Amino acid sequence: MKEGRFKKNLYAVFFTFFFFFCSTSDLLLPRSPLEMLTGGRWDLLQPSIGISAMHMQLLHNNKVVIFDRTDYGPSNLSLPSQTCRNATVFDCSAHSLLYDVASNTFRPLTLRSDTWCSSGSLNASGSLIQTGGYGVGERVVRIFTPCDGVSCDWVENRAYLSSRRWYSTNQILPDGRIIIVGGRRAFTYEFYPKNPGKSVFILRFLAETRDPNEENNLYPFLHLLPDGNLFIFANRRSILFDFVNHRIVKEFPVIPGGDKRNYPSTGSSVLLPLSLTGENNRSKIAAEVMVCGGAPPGAFLKAARTIPKVFVGASRTCGRLKVTDPNPSWVMEQMPAPRVMPDMLLLPNGDILIINGASNGTAGWEDATNAVLNPILYMPDEPDPTRRFEILAPTRIPRMYHSASLLLADGRVLIGGSNPHRNYNFTARHYPTELSLEAYLPRYLDPQYSGVRPSIVTVELAGNMLYGKSFAVTFVIPAFGMFDGRVSVRLVAPSFSTHSTAMNQRMLVLRVRRVVQLSVFAYKADVDGPTNSYVAPPGYYMMFMVHRGTPSVAIWVKV
Ligand SMILES: *[C@@H]1O[C@H](CO)[C@@H](O)[C@H](O)[C@H]1NC(C)=O
Ligand SMILES: *[C@@H]1O[C@H](CO)[C@@H](O)[C@H](O)[C@H]1NC(C)=O
Ligand SMILES: *[C@@H]1O[C@H](CO)[C@@H](O)[C@H](O)[C@H]1NC(C)=O
Ligand SMILES: *[C@@H]1O[C@H](CO)[C@@H](O)[C@H](O)[C@H]1NC(C)=O
Ligand SMILES: *[C@@H]1O[C@H](CO)[C@@H](O)[C@H](O)[C@H]1NC(C)=O
Ligand SMILES: *[C@@H]1O[C@H](CO)[C@@H](O)[C@H](O)[C@H]1NC(C)=O
Repeated sequence: MKEGRFKKNLYAVFFTFFFFFCSTSDLLLPRSPLEMLTGGRWDLLQPSIGISAMHMQLLHNNKVVIFDRTDYGPSNLSLPSQTCRNATVFDCSAHSLLYDVASNTFRPLTLRSDTWCSSGSLNASGSLIQTGGYGVGERVVRIFTPCDGVSCDWVENRAYLSSRRWYSTNQILPDGRIIIVGGRRAFTYEFYPKNPGKSVFILRFLAETRDPNEENNLYPFLHLLPDGNLFIFANRRSILFDFVNHRIVKEFPVIPGGDKRNYPSTGSSVLLPLSLTGENNRSKIAAEVMVCGGAPPGAFLKAARTIPKVFVGASRTCGRLKVTDPNPSWVMEQMPAPRVMPDMLLLPNGDILIINGASNGTAGWEDATNAVLNPILYMPDEPDPTRRFEILAPTRIPRMYHSASLLLADGRVLIGGSNPHRNYNFTARHYPTELSLEAYLPRYLDPQYSGVRPSIVTVELAGNMLYGKSFAVTFVIPAFGMFDGRVSVRLVAPSFSTHSTAMNQRMLVLRVRRVVQLSVFAYKADVDGPTNSYVAPPGYYMMFMVHRGTPSVAIWVKV
C-alpha cells in the first residue's frame, strides 16, 4: 500500500517535471504556398544589446529609447562612467539605452528609479514623458528629450505623480496634456502636467473591471477618438469617457465570449486607421477599435498558482467595434491560432500586424508556454472575412512576456525583449532571457516591389504641419509607367510599446486632392493636413506615402 502510494508520488513528481520542463512546443503555423512566398523576412540586428527590451519608444530622430527594469541586479550593458546605484544591490550597469536605427548601434543611458511595468507617451515637442514603475519608481516622471549628439539622457523627477502608477496606460490629448489611467491598485487617472487644483480623479470602472485574484484589467487599452472622448477598455468591458467633464458618456456592450483581454490575461488592441478623406466634421468621423487575443477566465490562476502549472489555451478571437456608431455591437473573428501577449501594430498600408506572444498561459513570470513564432497579418478592408488573416514568415526567437515591438520609419518592425523570469536567466530551460534585437520586414519591403515604392522628395511645409492647411508633396515612382494614378498619404503616431500595449498608436489617412505629373518619374500631390487636434493630437508623426500597397520611407512631420 505504502509502496504503491510512493510510486504514485514518484510518477507525480515525474509528470511535474515533464510538464515543467518538457512541454514546450513552439508553434510554427502551417502556411499555404502563397504565404510561404509572401510572408516577409526576419533580420537579426543585434545578438545582444545587453538589456531585455521591456519598453520601447521611437523618437523623431529615428532613435529608439529602450529600457527594462532596474531592480534585478546588473544587466549585460555597462555604464561608461562610474555611475553606480546602491539600492537593493550594488549596480553599475545600464537598464536603458538609445538605439540608433540608421547605424544599428546603441549607447547606454542612466536610469535611477525603477521603471518596471511603467508607461509613457511623447509630448507635443517630441520628448518622452515616462511615468511610474515600481517601488521608489512608482510616482516618478522621467523625461528623455532627443538630441543630435550623445549628451542627452534621462532626467528624473522623483515624486511628481499623485498616485502610484504600476501597469497604467498613457495617451496624449488634443491640448497636448497626457492622461495616465489606472495601474495596480490605482482605480484613478491623472494628467501630466498636473491638473491645477484636483490632481487625481476616481474612475470606478477600473475597480469594477478588476477580477478578484486575477486582475485582468491592468494596462487598460486607451484610444483617443475624434469626437474628443477617450475609449477605455478593461477586462471585457469598455466605455466612452469624457475626460474634460470627468464622466462616462456611455458603456459599450461587453465583448462576447468569456475571454479576458487585459493584463495578465493580456490581449492587445488597435484603433483602425482614421480616414480623413471624406468627412470634415470630427464628430462624424468613423472610428473602429479591434481587440485580439487574451486568455479565458481562470487562466492566470492556473498558470501562476497551481502546482504543476497548467497552461490553458489562449484566446483565439478578435472583436471589432465601430465605437462611433450609435448602437455598435462587436463583430467577432477567429485568428489562425490562439494568442496571449500579442502586439498589434498598424503597418503603413493600413494592415495590422499581430506579432509576439504565446498560445498557452498568460502574462507573468513562467506563466506561458508554446510561443507563437509566426506573425499574423490582418487586412481590415478585405471584404471577404475568410481572407482577412494571413500567416507570415516565422522568427526563430520566441518573444514571450516582457517583449516589445514597434514600427520604424523605414517600414520595418523592431522587435526586442522577452524575459519571463524574475531575474535575467540565460540558463533557463525554457525561454531564457532574450537580449537580442530583430527586425521583421513585411512583404512590401521585398525587392520585387521596389519599382512601385514611392519616395518622398520634398514636402512643402513652412515648419509645422498646421491644422486644416493643405500642403504639397513631391515624390518619385522609380519604375516607368507603373504609377497607377493614386497615392495615399498617412500619418502614424509613434507608439510607446510595452506589455502588448502600443500607447498613442494611431494612423490618419489624409485627403489627397490631386496628383500631377512633373516629369517622367516625379509627381506632386496636394494633400489636406489633419483637420484638428482631436483627430491628430499635437506632436511628431511619421508621414508615409503608400502606392499600390507599398509604403515610402516616412519623413517626420510636426503637427
Ligand atoms: C550576459 O552576461 C552573463 C554574465 O556575464 C553571461 O553569462 C551571459 O552569457 C550574457 N548573456 C548574453 C546574451 O550576452
Ligand atoms: C551599499 O550599501 C550598503 C548598505 O548601505 C553598504 O553596506 C555597502 O557598503 C554599499 N556598497 C558599496 C559598494 O558602496
Ligand atoms: C515636452 O517636454 C520637454 C521636457 O520637459 C519640455 O521642455 C517641452 O516644453 C515639452 N513640450 C510641450 C509642448 O509641453
Ligand atoms: C458636426 O456634427 C455634429 C453631430 O452631427 C453636429 O451637431 C454639428 O453641428 C456639426 N458641426 C458642423 C460644423 O457642421
Ligand atoms: C495548450 O492549449 C491547448 C488548447 O487548450 C491544449 O490542448 C494544450 O494541452 C495546451 N498545452 C500545454 C502545454 O498546456
Ligand atoms: C534559471 O532557470 C532555471 C530553470 O530553468 C533555474 O533552475 C535557475 O535557478 C534559474 N537561475 C536563476 C539565476 O534564477
